[in-house]
Amino acid sequence: MKAIEIRNKYLNFFEKHGHKIIPSAPLIPENDPSVLFTTAGMQPLVPYLLGEKHPEGTRLTDYQKCVRTVDIDEVGDNRHLTYFEMLGNWSLGDYFKEESIQMSYDFLTKELNIPAEKLSVTCFAGDEDAPRDTVSAECWEKAGISKDRIYFFGKDDNWWIAGEEGPCGPDTEMFYDTGKPPCSENCNPSCDCGKYVEIWNNVFMEYFKSKDGKYSKLEQKNVDTGLGLERMAMLLQGKETPFDTEIFAPVMEKLEQLQKNDDINSRRIIAEHLRSSMMIICDGGRPSNIDRGYVLRRLIRRMIRHLNKLQISLDELPVLIELNINNLKEMYPDLEKNKEVIKSVIIEEKDKFVKTLTNGEKEFTKEMNKAIQNGEKQINGQVVFKLYDTYGFPPEVTKELAEENGFKVDLKEFDNLFKLHQEKSRLGSEQKFKGGLASTGEIETKYHTATHLLNAALKQVLGSHVHQRGSNITEERMRFDFSHDSKMTDEEKKQVEDLVNKYIQMAIPVERLEMKKDDAIAMGAEAMFLDKYGDIVTVYKIGDVSIELCGGPHVKNTSELGKFVIKKEESSSSGVRRIKAILTEN
Ligand code: ALA
Repeated sequence: MKAIEIRNKYLNFFEKHGHKIIPSAPLIPENDPSVLFTTAGMQPLVPYLLGEKHPEGTRLTDYQKCVRTVDIDEVGDNRHLTYFEMLGNWSLGDYFKEESIQMSYDFLTKELNIPAEKLSVTCFAGDEDAPRDTVSAECWEKAGISKDRIYFFGKDDNWWIAGEEGPCGPDTEMFYDTGKPPCSENCNPSCDCGKYVEIWNNVFMEYFKSKDGKYSKLEQKNVDTGLGLERMAMLLQGKETPFDTEIFAPVMEKLEQLQKNDDINSRRIIAEHLRSSMMIICDGGRPSNIDRGYVLRRLIRRMIRHLNKLQISLDELPVLIELNINNLKEMYPDLEKNKEVIKSVIIEEKDKFVKTLTNGEKEFTKEMNKAIQNGEKQINGQVVFKLYDTYGFPPEVTKELAEENGFKVDLKEFDNLFKLHQEKSRLGSEQKFKGGLASTGEIETKYHTATHLLNAALKQVLGSHVHQRGSNITEERMRFDFSHDSKMTDEEKKQVEDLVNKYIQMAIPVERLEMKKDDAIAMGAEAMFLDKYGDIVTVYKIGDVSIELCGGPHVKNTSELGKFVIKKEESSSSGVRRIKAILTEN
């Protein structure tokens, strides 16, 4: 069964069971600076899992475009992907374990015709935070899974949360038994040997984990599920890897025709990174040296290096892009619409990289020979940094190049040097590459609080018509969009800057309050997306200066922020101005 047929069957099945089909959210989350890309179907639905009413009701289903960057360096093996499609269905305080499990069982066995004997499932074993999930196990047995194929594991395997904080709960996972012999007497679905392949995850989201690690019960019991489409296609087609399915096969074959050197890993890297880059560009991503843009840059540059490794002319890139779009446009019609942009962004980035690639590789060889002469088997961090800074080699590319030659690289030293040069070269925060909802670092937390102070200062100086229209935070700076019609004068900018610094010097405590939305509004709390919140909201109050609806996180006291400096004030769109500002160490 082709991937698109699996997707359609899935959506139809859940539609028949009362679910509304909602569109995939963009890969690049709107107004959520804490994550790089959408990493799971539930991510755009967080407010609704927390209790807000969804306009389409309490039963939803979709396919969601996802990128997970934690595995970039693993791509090339037989299973890792950065871009993937997640099929999901949700109950927002509607059905719970029994119905969810019955539907999953029916979909797998009746719609996809997977024999029940090929399925194994795992349930949560229980601990001090939540009881053993015997309910799910009983539901599975009732549905038709024999007892000896129902396993129990702890939080590491059977608990799901995006990041560190947020809605979460025990999950039950479904595995497909490939029929390979067990790797040991203890071989079970939690084992990595390849006998069992995870196909679907149903999370019973009835808890909320807060920053301090405590669990509380959510107001409603939700179900959040995720089924990896590429993997399911692979299994149903009896293929060994997703690269053998129709999703990748045409590009893989073309690469095989074009290559002068044979290397299956390189072909997979090219095919995978090409698809991911195209999907990211299609949703508005552009290469740069920070955050999302840097991920895209890494993907394109790594792809180029592997094209070179196979000795495929880079002039073939437009052909490969065209071929890939033709192959995927039925699944993603937007690819066809954005064909020219996708081509030009990739080609432009290729041209940039090519300019420095030859010199960089020469430099690398020179340094490697030096190391050999010194009897070393390691490329030091300074060289990695020079290759990054001067030749645009992402450190991962240098690492790969080194490993191909039997060398190690000192990425720790690179990291140290890199931090020293942070103003100049902006990598963005490594932790953000991991994806997940709550990956906000210390610096970003400071910037979050600074946006509240800036919002308040702008109102003071420019007037009460000022409201936040957007914000974006990286480790290096904050960007803040607000409603205001005209360019700010130098005097106004100075006043705003001084006022924010005054608030910082006043060392005002930052209070986190929970209250009814109506009460918060009555108190005059600012809110950017009022209808995105549930009835009970989190409000951050900074003395008499600011009160805003916000999920946080924030510093405890404004004195932690250092010094606030406005770097730029410009137009963002009609009636909206944009300020870029930084915090420095006083
Ligand atoms: N959100 C769950 C996952 O990503 C379903 O596995």
